[in-house]
Amino acid sequence: MEISLTTGKKIPCPPGSSILESLKQAGIFLTSSCGGKGTCGKCKVIIKSGRAVSKSRLKLSHEEIGSGYVLACRTYPETDLLIDVPKESMLVVEGKVVTGKSKDLQELLRSTGAAMKPLTERTVLHLPPPTLDDNISDLERLRRGLLSRGMACLRVPFRFMPGLAKTMRKKDWEITLCTIHTEDCEEIIRIASGNRKSPRYGVAVDIGTTTIVVFLVDLTNGELVDIASTYNSQIRYGDDVITRIVHATEHNKLKELNGAVISDINNLLSIIRKTHHIDIESLDCFVVAGNTTMTHLFLGLDPSAIREEPYIPTANTFPLAFAGELDIRVNPDIPIYAFPCVASYVGGDIVSGVLATQLHKKHELSIFIDIGTNGEIVIGNSEWLVSAACSAGPCFEGSGIKCGMRATDGAVEGVKIDRETLDVEIKVIGDADTKPTGICGSGMIDAVAEMFLTGIIDQKGKLQKDVSGRVRDGGDGLEFVVYSGDAERADIVLAEPDIENIVRAKAAIYAGFSTILNEVGLTFNDVQKVYIAGGFGKFLDIEKAIMLGMLPELPKERFEYMGNTSVTGAYLCLLSRKLREEAEEVAKKMTYLELSVSRSFMNEYVSGLFIPHTDIDAFPGVKKLMER
Ligand code: FES
Repeated sequence: MEISLTTGKKIPCPPGSSILESLKQAGIFLTSSCGGKGTCGKCKVIIKSGRAVSKSRLKLSHEEIGSGYVLACRTYPETDLLIDVPKESMLVVEGKVVTGKSKDLQELLRSTGAAMKPLTERTVLHLPPPTLDDNISDLERLRRGLLSRGMACLRVPFRFMPGLAKTMRKKDWEITLCTIHTEDCEEIIRIASGNRKSPRYGVAVDIGTTTIVVFLVDLTNGELVDIASTYNSQIRYGDDVITRIVHATEHNKLKELNGAVISDINNLLSIIRKTHHIDIESLDCFVVAGNTTMTHLFLGLDPSAIREEPYIPTANTFPLAFAGELDIRVNPDIPIYAFPCVASYVGGDIVSGVLATQLHKKHELSIFIDIGTNGEIVIGNSEWLVSAACSAGPCFEGSGIKCGMRATDGAVEGVKIDRETLDVEIKVIGDADTKPTGICGSGMIDAVAEMFLTGIIDQKGKLQKDVSGRVRDGGDGLEFVVYSGDAERADIVLAEPDIENIVRAKAAIYAGFSTILNEVGLTFNDVQKVYIAGGFGKFLDIEKAIMLGMLPELPKERFEYMGNTSVTGAYLCLLSRKLREEAEEVAKKMTYLELSVSRSFMNEYVSGLFIPHTDIDAFPGVKKLMER
């Protein structure tokens, strides 16, 4: 059987395959947040002609069904089909991700007080040629040369021995050694003839569940040469880590998921290298930070036990890997350092975030939260650190929200509702003429807080039909029109289930804070600093997040929005041995609290299912606003 697309493309449809699977085989990827279970409603296509069996119509309105819409993941062709794939169903896997600036990073590195000592070093030796009087072997000569440079312990892997004699003689006994410090010894990872001291670059990578960010760093001075980013193309297998683990294990597709992230990194690297004319021999090392599942999938490790009680990963600390072992397209001998993880749901990205904030060295009590697809929290100071994952879900990244999208061009990132007229003003990511196509996390926080303040929703997040003309029946319940579309663009709405989803997510985050603080016998009043990381793009309105009850009501100056801290920590580790050691200590020192079995977390969570909270006295400022 064959599926024709209205664009003219024709693809084969193997017997028993769904439309989604057939499209995927042909390299056409649809958004499939639920991983093809038929529950997210993101993979809609329109059947123009032909016959197919649809096993689920969940998330489709009557009008849509009447117009031929089906869920691609649950629809199986019976004859050749002609289908139309709406723009909003297509998976967009490109776009810039906002990150830190070079100057800030170099300043940050200096502020840690750590000396610059990259993961790998290059040493140039000019050795005296052998004579009848000085007739020691080539290897001894090499060791002697290094000893005079203070490198007493040197490990030479056997793979360098066959070419050693030639390499040493090729440029008149001048050679460059690239070494890495492991277990109190220097180990050779590359030998080249001549002086190859510079240029040399390192790569810091953040493997997020949603996005991948690569920093190209000049190892001679710590300068950030360029940033490249893309959406993690594993998204095509599902939005969250659990769906991907299921795909990797139950469907035997670990290799596919591993290949997806490796090819994303390879593509980013090749773009960056081309732009800056960087020779492959100038790349020396990689540091990679990601959550525990992402790190497992990147390294090709079996993640299956991460999702089953008692949630055990294959490893929390990872032996050094080499590019050739992972199919990274650079010199195969380049080392790849993966950030240590804490537990199945608090990974290297969080350790990296702690390192970026330096909260583990501060006397004051701080909170660090990374709001991504899960919502991981660390609370502590220089003496102790407690972490937890609060299962906030990926709604702030657009998943599970009818018109939700990530913080990229076309996303509504800010919403204001006039107190008198209830007119809505929106702020869209992109150029002045960029048309809105969906709403991202910061837009959702803004919108729900504003709807609450204007009485469009009540404390439970229920839409009030008589308050605003923008509240309408959306087929599957009431919805609020954030933006009215036109002939070409659909309306952007927040439906009641979306608002419930957002309220559940904010309740989980706040409950995570309160549960950890309760456990250690402290309160929000003891917290001096709150660091927020996450994919909100450039902008997160702290006041609105407080109004919603997601963040505690503390003075505004105690909050700091940090953007992507995972790649920042990877940058620091790339350049400093001391900070690598600190990262390992942080991972070891962090106590992990399993919130999924905590009764007190459940109680806190239920109390948080109101806006801002059942305990309104915890939010005196919001209370005052409500009274007004
Ligand atoms: S409904 Fe089809 S992928 Fe989610």
